[in-house]
Amino acid sequence: MTTDRTKPDAAPRQMHLGLFLQGAGHHVSGWRHPNAEAGSENFDLLRRVTQTAEAAKFDMVFLADGLTSAVDAHPSMIARFEPLTLLSALAMVTERIGLAATASTTYGEPYHVARAFASLDHLSGGRAAWNVVTTSYARTANNFSKAHPAHDERYAVAEEFVDVVCGLWDSWDDDAFVKDKTRGVYADPAKVRILDHAGRYFNVKGPLNIPRSPQGHPILIQAGSSGPGQDLAARRADVVFTAQQDIAEAQSFYASLKQRVAGFGRDPASVAVMPGFLPVIGRTLKEASAKLFELDQWTPIASAMPLLEERLGHSLASYDLDGPLPDLPVSDQLRSRAELLTALARREGLTIRQLALRVAAGRGHHMIVGTAADVADRMQAWFEGGAADGFNVMPPFFPEGLDDFVREVVPLLQERGLFRTAYAGTTLRDHLGLARPGPEEPVSRS
Ligand SMILES: Cc1cc2nc3c(=O)[nH]c(=O)nc-3n(C[C@H](O)[C@H](O)[C@H](O)COP(=O)(O)O)c2cc1C
Repeated sequence: MTTDRTKPDAAPRQMHLGLFLQGAGHHVSGWRHPNAEAGSENFDLLRRVTQTAEAAKFDMVFLADGLTSAVDAHPSMIARFEPLTLLSALAMVTERIGLAATASTTYGEPYHVARAFASLDHLSGGRAAWNVVTTSYARTANNFSKAHPAHDERYAVAEEFVDVVCGLWDSWDDDAFVKDKTRGVYADPAKVRILDHAGRYFNVKGPLNIPRSPQGHPILIQAGSSGPGQDLAARRADVVFTAQQDIAEAQSFYASLKQRVAGFGRDPASVAVMPGFLPVIGRTLKEASAKLFELDQWTPIASAMPLLEERLGHSLASYDLDGPLPDLPVSDQLRSRAELLTALARREGLTIRQLALRVAAGRGHHMIVGTAADVADRMQAWFEGGAADGFNVMPPFFPEGLDDFVREVVPLLQERGLFRTAYAGTTLRDHLGLARPGPEEPVSRS
């Protein structure tokens, strides 16, 4: 795959920013704030915040997704738009910002996924990205008439799934649709590639029923941080979305990932590592801390516990909430997140209650509470300290949380030369500094 950076060597390295968009905010109680406009089905709100991110020159808007619902889930996850449908609508009211949607390799078909993202890439003029996830929660199987595969098998499926999708995206040469009225030739039969994939999990003949898309391949994002997750990212991804608690942890993930990228013969600089982070901004540290305290006050422990238990993959009903987190066997569900939260509790000596509140605020992502300068300093330290190539910004609630970030933090990053002041190109590949790939040779894996 061609993923050489197109930027000249002399160009200063700049960070990439994604807006992690959730209609009811990221803090579990964000929607209760008097200034919050909550609603995952509120298209007007989603349109406005996406346009705010575009005006601030963000690389992309990012939509997570799940395929289940529960009344005690995080409010942004009880109900939400199907991501590709939402992004197709957002494509019509934006011009430059990248459009990233999550789609599962465990509960989907490569042909559907390839077709949907190629379609979005055409509709948006080259701004589509697929966040490849393997789906952690076993209860998802209840909606799909099949059994939930184990962690490592989910990744084995994902490896083959992504290869098939990329192969399907190369079904047609870029100039295959000649539409020659004189000769009566719409699509040149010499310019079609039949994938003919016969693998362990998928048999897919092809070709895909849509021309090769503006980016050649829509951008591949990968989210899932265990060893097999990192290998998938290292072999295939352009962007890695991750959750890291502190700079030391982020540096070690970053080094491990980049080493794996090199191990697959790829340029480590061609893969951008973007941790999520949740900024709580005030004019003073005291004001920012009070803002977080207020949000935490609206979080009953009964609504925080399911979020923690879900991430640990174990019930904590028989333990004292004000006691330490017990030693629990590693869960197959969200393995990397369970490890991260356990390490956090041990490092900071948190009780179960305190850990649950942390998860309710940022779900295990890094949180920065302080002034705009504190936030910019922390981002700069991670970016320059080998911990991140950019960030997926997670406002605690909308639209104010994003407005504060865009008004106060983005100008500081721009003044420091750390973030663009104008888009240099029109596609998401351009924003990420990645060349458009030519068609790949099919990957054989029998
Ligand atoms: C930062 C991050 C974001 C994720 N976002 C999603 C998501 O939106 N939807 C989903 O089904 N799974 C999501 N996942 C779950 C992964 O796809 C994967 O199933 C899970 O993390 C277990 O794999 P791991 O142990 O490799 O992390 C995410 C994982 C991470 C680390």
